[in-house]
Amino acid sequence: MTSPKHVICEDAIEVKSENVEFNNEYIESTYDYSTTKITRNGNTIIATPVSQVYNFRTKRNVGKVGVMIVGIGGNNGTTVTGAILANKHNLTWETKDGTMKPNYFGSLTQSTTTLLGMEQNQEIYVGLNKLLPMVNPNDLVIAGWDISNLNLYESMKRAKVFDYNLQQKLKPYMENIKPLKSIYYSDFLAGNQSSRANNVYNGNHACTEHLNILRNDIKNFKESNNLDKVIVIWSANTERMCQYKDEHETEKSLLEAIESKEEEISMSQMFAVAAILEGCSYINGSPQNTFCNGIMEMARKRGVFIGGDDFKSGQTKIKSCLMDFLVSSGLKPESIVSYNHLGNNDGKNLSEAKQFESKKISKSGVVDDMVTSNNILYSKENEKPDHCVVIKYVPFVGDSKRAMDEYTSKIFMNGLNTIVLHNTCEDSLLAAPIILDLIILTELFERIEWKLEHEHAKCYKTFESVLSVLSFLLKAPLVAKDAPLVNAFFKQRGSIENILRACIGLRPINNMLLEYKTGFYNLYKTEEVEVNVKNSTKSMPKLLNKNKDINVNTIVNEQQMVDID
Ligand SMILES: NC(=O)c1ccc[n+]([C@@H]2O[C@H](COP(=O)([O-])OP(=O)(O)OC[C@H]3O[C@@H](n4cnc5c(N)ncnc54)[C@H](O)[C@@H]3O)[C@@H](O)[C@H]2O)c1
Repeated sequence: MTSPKHVICEDAIEVKSENVEFNNEYIESTYDYSTTKITRNGNTIIATPVSQVYNFRTKRNVGKVGVMIVGIGGNNGTTVTGAILANKHNLTWETKDGTMKPNYFGSLTQSTTTLLGMEQNQEIYVGLNKLLPMVNPNDLVIAGWDISNLNLYESMKRAKVFDYNLQQKLKPYMENIKPLKSIYYSDFLAGNQSSRANNVYNGNHACTEHLNILRNDIKNFKESNNLDKVIVIWSANTERMCQYKDEHETEKSLLEAIESKEEEISMSQMFAVAAILEGCSYINGSPQNTFCNGIMEMARKRGVFIGGDDFKSGQTKIKSCLMDFLVSSGLKPESIVSYNHLGNNDGKNLSEAKQFESKKISKSGVVDDMVTSNNILYSKENEKPDHCVVIKYVPFVGDSKRAMDEYTSKIFMNGLNTIVLHNTCEDSLLAAPIILDLIILTELFERIEWKLEHEHAKCYKTFESVLSVLSFLLKAPLVAKDAPLVNAFFKQRGSIENILRACIGLRPINNMLLEYKTGFYNLYKTEEVEVNVKNSTKSMPKLLNKNKDINVNTIVNEQQMVDID
């Protein structure tokens, strides 16, 4: 065993461990992953601990990152773009409550912290984005397509999300951004969207010409902005579900179907294919079933990430959290009734039955993993709570979405407990930071590679192309074939935190606090020093921590990598 290294990471915190090394190009870690294998012998369940040693390496140079938003002129598109510009240029604006400053509240990477460890009796938290180098949202270069030709200032006004004064401050930055012309296959969207489709190419079906246009748009954006990479994200309207045919099964049949103008290839599938062929990660922020087998095959073959489906912003986020709480408390949810009404263009599109159906499906599966995790509460085969989802379009409320939920659970001795929630929130202000997180995490995972310890360095590869680590941010998470689908809020969050920790050689957060339950505090006492107490000299234990008196935020973002053996 080599002696522990003491290193200062360029973009993050210091880690002192023999399991991590920093060099100019990579952060390299060794990680002993442990899990439990289950076998059965008759009625006996046998649990066997198993482990696997991984090597991770994370490229330190983030590079210049571009984002292309499909539906950039929509409420989400203009909100995310405006928020980045407001943060980047440090704009302030006046409201009746005084002067407002921009922030990234609601973003997992920008506004949440993670437990790093203990300092004497204190838990020390750092921003999640301090664990590994991540792109700063202010540095993202944004462009996108929209079927509506309004510039982004006009479409931001149409969205009615930001205060008037902020809109005016953003005007000089937003009015010069114009959406690229897009493809529009009217059968996939609600009929009520046709009036805004004035920025579209001819042709109502998939075709190779359209595919080449989209590929060229991505190429041109990348070249003209000198970008290292581009991520494409669908934030356009919800499409009806695509009726899969044999053509959707393989990459070859899908490309042939595009060439022969097959009507059942959706717009979102065209964007996904274009992005993947250009080597760009593609994220689906709406509920439709874009990712057919042909697209999955295409992404896997090229090692390109895909993630979906449907931003998890409001009601479903609470559901994944509340169900986790109820079921893990031993209470049995029997009925979940969710009403929504909203008045933005998303609501208008969802007011037609086929598009609503896509949303209903993505909102409905969110409780399944938690229900199947507890066969004490749900003991009958396929037993589930009644789960009803209703969405209504009420133009007056605009982007201010109302969600009303009733959870009725069976409690001790068959008593009933009913929880009723009323949630009012600006829809796009919840979705925009999630869009940023999806981009930031996807970009990060493009720089993380892994191999098994015994394998040669040439064997480093990226994660599975279905990027399930994004599940925390998505209503109906896409997972690789045979992988368990996790919706439970705290499991999803823990997975992200612990994978990031593994990449800097730290153990997972276990929340056991065993040292305090056993009185074994010596764990943190690494040095005895002499200190003066009221003129008398007394020996006191003191932590060996060179940054002890420094605010934890000041130890991040060091410019130089220092290796102090
Ligand atoms: N909280 C949220 O806002 C939230 C949460 C989860 C999912 N979503 C999903 O995100 C999507 C966007 O929501 P929004 O509120 O921004 O809707 P929106 O209607 O305001 O914006 C969508 C934009 O997409 C454009 N568009 C439609 N088809 C297009 C195409 N083929 N090419 C390019 N642009 C196209 C429209 O013109 C519009 O500007 C919706 O599907 C919605 O269901 C939103």
